[in-house]
Amino acid sequence: MTNQTKTIKFYSGEQIPVEQHKVRIVQKLFLRPIDERKTAIEEAGFNTFLLNTKDVFLDMLTDSGTNAMSDNQISSMLQADDAYAGSQSFYRMEEAAREVFGKHYVLPVHQGRAAENIVSQAFIKQGDVIPMNYHFTTTKEHMELNGGKVLEIYGDDALDIKSSKQFKGNIDINKLNAVFEKYGKERVAFVRMEASTNLIGGQPFSMQNMRDVRAVCDKYDTMMVLDASLIGENAFFIKQREEEFKNAEIKDILLEMCGYADLVYFSSRKVSSTRGGGIVTNKKEYYLKMRDLLVLYEGFLTYGGMSVREIEAMAVGLRETCDDTVISQSPSFIKYAVDNLDAAGVPVITPAGALGCHLDAMGFLKHVPQQQYPAGALASALYIISGIRGMERGTISSVRDENGDDILADVELLRLAFPRRVFTLSQTMYVIDRVKWLYDNRELVGGLQWVEEPPVLRFFMGRLEPIGDWTEKLVAKFKADFGDSL
Ligand code: F0G
Repeated sequence: MTNQTKTIKFYSGEQIPVEQHKVRIVQKLFLRPIDERKTAIEEAGFNTFLLNTKDVFLDMLTDSGTNAMSDNQISSMLQADDAYAGSQSFYRMEEAAREVFGKHYVLPVHQGRAAENIVSQAFIKQGDVIPMNYHFTTTKEHMELNGGKVLEIYGDDALDIKSSKQFKGNIDINKLNAVFEKYGKERVAFVRMEASTNLIGGQPFSMQNMRDVRAVCDKYDTMMVLDASLIGENAFFIKQREEEFKNAEIKDILLEMCGYADLVYFSSRKVSSTRGGGIVTNKKEYYLKMRDLLVLYEGFLTYGGMSVREIEAMAVGLRETCDDTVISQSPSFIKYAVDNLDAAGVPVITPAGALGCHLDAMGFLKHVPQQQYPAGALASALYIISGIRGMERGTISSVRDENGDDILADVELLRLAFPRRVFTLSQTMYVIDRVKWLYDNRELVGGLQWVEEPPVLRFFMGRLEPIGDWTEKLVAKFKADFGDSL
């Protein structure tokens, strides 16, 4: 595998990301007419999680389990060794994980949140706090279920929508020190850093910040945990944005990042473009603490709830995470979309990060109060006018407090995920075009209210409805502007 770190320049001077792969297996897509899309979102309770993919044109819900797999990954699946215990597939994956993460003990799990369950059960006790750059939905639930409290100690400007700050995923070191001073090291279960901080717009942290966090953990003799689900992209940003690493190999950046953490866990649905997940560490005592939970919740130590075929593909995918052309693809397409939308005045998180293009729903729909879920409304509106499925990352993805009131999210985002090597540039241009149209017609979009609200992770299965008849007005305007276009 040769690394191609340089970009391709155009004679015209335009900055256009060029795909560094060719398409060999394709899936036909359907763009249903707008009336059918409106019916589909009504049947899905205005929740894009509940749409059927037969009604979706561009599925930008997530990159989880939807990244394109490489020819080498698919072919590796054929050599899978079916065995409950001692499978060769596992040992091949273990070797790859040791190589990429630099950790000896490798525990396979069925997906990222399973790792969170085990790590939380093993290391969090009632009344503990867990400082971190930002929470992820499933992370927080598992930590709270085990009696822990999440403390978000990001920098003061991390939530700014429009920003030129390169590392909004950094932990604020003063705030971290203050946590230890306030609670004492006995109550700090561990410090968690999430690579390419998901819920604040895929924003990376710097290597320098990791070093600083490590120094605090050393001072207080506390464990440092790295959520490496999007570590490849974070490493790519370190290479691009941190002077010291501009000539470094991604594999060395990954090793240095993991070297600072005592324990690394990940969703393989993201990091290795497969399904599954894992936990790695060099500390035997940590490994032993988690091992028995693994066999209880996941399966035997050599498959952890995963199919051996996925384990084979994971071995290949982990190594491909060290390839610049693989991990740069999604960020470069996201940057193309973000820069174009930003130039058109559409409120979008800048600088462009990993995972997706994040529209700022509160800036987009200023007239929709946060209590009426602007990010959810924007997700529904965009689906209706384009067949593009994004994901609400705002108050619907949050929870209620003990009085039953919504805890309003810090940011209301509509995330349009760019799974690796899935969408083409013309599809990306379609996304930009339809988002711009929606922005010009934003006054037509109204809010949402609950019809059915589950008590846990309500965003997955909850059902809502529009307040008023805004969806009809939106459809009518689309037809007036686009005629018989899909
Ligand atoms: N940690 C991070 C940072 C994640 O982004 C995810 C999943 C998980 C843990 C949980 O992993 O899904 O394999 O159980 N993020 C997905 C998303 C769901 O769409 O962003 P999982």
